This record gives sequence, structure tokens and C-alpha cells, in this order.
Amino acid sequence: MDHFQYRDGVLHAEAVPLPTIAAEIGTPFYCYATATMARHYEVLSGALDGSGAMICYAIKANSNQAVIRTMVEMGAGADVISGGELQRALAAGAPPGRIVFAGPGKTRDELVMALGVGIHQFNVESEPELRMLSQVAASLGKVAPVALRVNPDVDAGTHEKITTGRKQNKFGIPIERAAGIYALGGGLPGLEMLGIALHIGSQLTELQPFEEAFSRALDLIEELRAAGHEVRRFNLGGGLGIPYGAETPPPPADYARMVKRLTDNRRLDLILEPGRVLVGNAGILVARVIHEKHEGRRFIVIDAAMNDLLRPSLYDSWHDIVPVSQPAADAALSPADVVGPICESGDFLAKAREMPPLAPEDLIAVRSAGAYGAVMASTYNSRPLVPEVLVRGEDFAVVRPRQEIAELLGRDRLPPWLPPPATPRAVEG
Ligand code: LLP
Repeated sequence: MDHFQYRDGVLHAEAVPLPTIAAEIGTPFYCYATATMARHYEVLSGALDGSGAMICYAIKANSNQAVIRTMVEMGAGADVISGGELQRALAAGAPPGRIVFAGPGKTRDELVMALGVGIHQFNVESEPELRMLSQVAASLGKVAPVALRVNPDVDAGTHEKITTGRKQNKFGIPIERAAGIYALGGGLPGLEMLGIALHIGSQLTELQPFEEAFSRALDLIEELRAAGHEVRRFNLGGGLGIPYGAETPPPPADYARMVKRLTDNRRLDLILEPGRVLVGNAGILVARVIHEKHEGRRFIVIDAAMNDLLRPSLYDSWHDIVPVSQPAADAALSPADVVGPICESGDFLAKAREMPPLAPEDLIAVRSAGAYGAVMASTYNSRPLVPEVLVRGEDFAVVRPRQEIAELLGRDRLPPWLPPPATPRAVEG
């Protein structure tokens, strides 16, 4: 269950009516519910209880510092993918000893930064990266803690663009080459080879691909141990899906039970990198209807667009869309395209969606937008980034204010060969 429910006919975030927030900060805005994040974190960590697993929240899903901080306060570490994310995690108070650094293209500068901070682990994805890390660490007189990310060649059964564990994907070391590269790492200076990592994709709705991948990695771990290598850590990645519409992903407790069943008595320190499952259903995007257009087809034009929430345009993904004022139970539904003001046909949040009657100025909520929503937003069409609001009970706080147009424009510079415009104008407001 999430914490965006109708109360007296008005959609609330926990105990806060969404029109209250809209009146204060305007639309569109993202809104996150602390209670949902806490519940999802507790369900997962509770089910893993006794396994000693470290939950490193994948901050790429939602890297607002208020969200990271909420996770850190509950005990989470962080999974980061860039120097920027590393700095965000640290700024939000994630302890360096609970940060893992993943990703197929860490730069030398990023490695230096992470070594300087003393993070828990580097998930190394290739032989060249292993050599680069060795060289950087050795030159700094440091020892880098390493887990080798393997590619187990398992089809995660998810969207083409977010599957990562098949041979043809750019991620990880083919599992059949992993033993050799693990041994190679053991002989390089500046490295401590500690374990194996994997991540086979995102928004998985079945347990079976996870189980297949974990089993292959565990076989590898036993093979490495038999060859005399020490393998202490097993990083399981993220990827557990959430219900956006009709899908029925496995409950986190079932996932955790499977993990425990496979790893019990293996003498492994487990690391998980969940993102979406912790925050996806903890967020919505609230927008306002600008107008409707009926030209053989019903278009609901709203003030949010693909630049604010890219997932429908990029992955054809489904997000439930509901009016903030609860429609009558017998309201007539008719199919509509819910579209934004951007100048391309790919700009939609829903296609042929059964929607109740709506009027200009009505508020709507796009659900399940807490993960890969705000973080993937852009300023395309010179649309400023929208605010983010965090709710807790009856309280709400703007955790990122709306970007101002002046801020956006102020980032550009004219080159010296262009004369400045004779009459620069700024529009008030
Ligand atoms: N660990 C690694 C190494 C990852 O690459 C990812 C996600 C995660 C953990 C977290 O996965 P999660 O638990 O959130 O599934 N933008 C796409 C999703 C991209 C996921 C990228 N990697 C979307 O909107 O569906």
C-alpha cells in the first residue's frame, strides 16, 4: 500500500491534501511520502534480518538529498554510479564505509575521489578498469576494496533498455572469464579482491531470473574458493520491480527469503542495491490540466511533460493517472492521450487511457513516480526543473524549490565575437 489515498474525496499525501501543496508552490511538482519509503525499507530489511545484509540504496532512483537522508536515517548505505552521486551521498550523510561504487565507466578522477573518501567497495566491471584502479590506488598508497561485477548471461525478462545481465549488454565481466580476472586482480598492487557483484536489470517481476543469476554467481564463488581465493562478499545488485499497473512483482519478503535460502551458511557478507522498490511507489507527480482538445481523439493537455517524467516516452511505461478530486463512482470514462506542452509527439504521459471528465485547472496525479522521475528530468524546451516536496504525516517541506527561468538562462554565456543584444529584456514574474 502507498500513502497517496483519497480522504473526503481529495487525494492526500499521508495527511496532507495535495491541493494545499499546489496552492503554495504551484504545479507541476513531485511529492514523496516518507511513510511509504519507511515501510518499504522496513519490509525489506526486516525480511533480511539475521542475514547481516547491507542495504545500499541505489541513489540513482531518486537522489534528492532529503530522500537519501531519509534512507540513511533508517540505516541504509548508498550505491553510487558517478562522482556526483558519491558527493550527493556524502552530503546527505551516508557513511563512506557503507557506500559502494558501481558503473561501467568510472573515470580516473572518480576513482581518486572514492579512494580518498575510503568507500566500502568498488564494483569493478572490466579488466581495464581493474588495472586502472590498481594503478591509481597503488600510486596513492591505498588499497581499493574490490568486488568483481560478473555478467551471468541471464535474461531478466524486463524492458530491453534496462536489462543488464545478458552477454550482449555492456555490463560486467562474462562469468566464464571471471575466475581468471579475479586471480589477476589478486596479483595486482593496490587491490584487495573481496567478492563478486552482479546486477541483471531493473523492474524485474519474477524471482526466477534472480535465482538463476545468484546461483551462477554462487557456483563461481565456490570455484574461486576451491582455487584458494578468499571471497567474503556477495553483492546482489538491485532490480526488484514494483506494481505500476497490472504487474505483480514478488513481494520483497519473498525475494529476501530466496536470498537467504541460497546464501545461508555460505560465509558471505551480502550487499543489496535496491532503488525502485524503496522509492518508486513513494512518489507522485502532480500536474494541472491546461485544457482538453477533442479532434476525433481526446487529448488532455497538462502542464507536466516528458522533460519532467521521461519514462512513458522512453520506455512506453505505464503510470496510473488519477484526478486529485475523486471522481464520482459512476463517472463516465473515455480514452484520452494525456500529453504535455512539448513540441514532439513523443511527449505523453499516457496513451488511450480511460480517464474521467476533467476541466481546465483540475489537478491530476501521476502515480509511481518516486523512482527515475525527478532524476531523469531535463530542461528541454526551457522548462525549469519542477520542485520536489517531502511529506511526513501532517508536515510537508519543499526539498528542492522550482528552478527559476533566470537561473536557467543565466547559465549561458555569449562568446566574445557576438555583440550583446542592444536591448536585453527580462520578463518579470
Ligand atoms: N545497481 C546497479 C548496478 C544498477 O545499475 C541499478 C539500476 C540498481 C542497482 C538499482 O536498480 P533498481 O533496484 O532501481 O531496479 N531509468 C530506468 C531504470 C534504470 C536502472 C538502472 N540501474 C527506469 O526508469 O525504469
